[in-house]
Amino acid sequence: MSRHPLLKVENVTVRFGVLTAVNQVSFDVHQGELLGLIGPNGAGKTTMLRAITGVVNATEGEVYLSGAPLVGLTIERRIRQGLSLSQQLVKPLRNLSLLENVALAAGGQKTVSPLRALSHVSNANELAIGMQMLEKVGIADRAHQMPGTQPLGILKRLELARALALKPQLFLLDEPLAGLNSSEARGLANTITEIHQSGMTVVLIEHNLSEVMRLCQRLIVLDNGKKIGDGMPREVMQDPVVRAAYLGGDTLATSQSQEEPEHA
Ligand SMILES: Nc1ncnc2c1ncn2[C@@H]1O[C@H](COP(=O)(O)OP(=O)(O)O)[C@@H](O)[C@H]1O
Ligand SMILES: [Mg+2]
Repeated sequence: MSRHPLLKVENVTVRFGVLTAVNQVSFDVHQGELLGLIGPNGAGKTTMLRAITGVVNATEGEVYLSGAPLVGLTIERRIRQGLSLSQQLVKPLRNLSLLENVALAAGGQKTVSPLRALSHVSNANELAIGMQMLEKVGIADRAHQMPGTQPLGILKRLELARALALKPQLFLLDEPLAGLNSSEARGLANTITEIHQSGMTVVLIEHNLSEVMRLCQRLIVLDNGKKIGDGMPREVMQDPVVRAAYLGGDTLATSQSQEEPEHA
């Protein structure tokens, strides 16, 4: 056991002009955990993950991975240190097959231009990693198909495979279930559980609270940029402050009613 948490977020604030998107947030992620990061729309969840990966800069505060400071490092350096972010919007390269898209990610940061990317995906080792990752997310049978013909559920799995190909120590997922129907969402949530059970530490932003409650071992709740909850899912969801934040929007009611068709 390391004496450091895998990730330590310390008093992080992110401002966009006058708007404070993340406000003095602190939390730890422990090795092996599956942590849910939840909160109403606009709470600052995506911005929090982006500040961890370096897509946006923290205005204040520190982020440590296994005790090593990340703030000030480029995204590429943070990825090399073990971070990977699976994005909310799925944007594969359309002229590459599913396998080539994942192999490209396995090749890491060497490849920025699409031209160099194309020469790169012929690397046998990277293609092998790509295939492994497609198997992990259950879409290896479509390895040689093009992204343009795939439904959203497959593209979401492709995005997971792409992010996994970076072989992260910490896997950050931003609303992987968004846009899926409840049985697709359940299937993808099960895939995320398998990835976690294979030893991956995961931080999951997710709107679908029934899946969050089923999957996560601990929840952090953001509202208006501030952390308003941190603990066991059931206890956190019973907290009046958390309930009030959700009742401001209608997320709680929506995600519970999504449960119903499941048993039909
Ligand atoms: N790049 C940006 N520039 C300006 N404002 C932003 C930017 N990204 C996010 N915001 C604002 O920050 C707040 C938090 O957004 P976000 O982190 O996307 O919330 P969530 O992911 O919880 O829905 C919102 O008010 C959003 O409009
Ligand atoms: Mg978001």
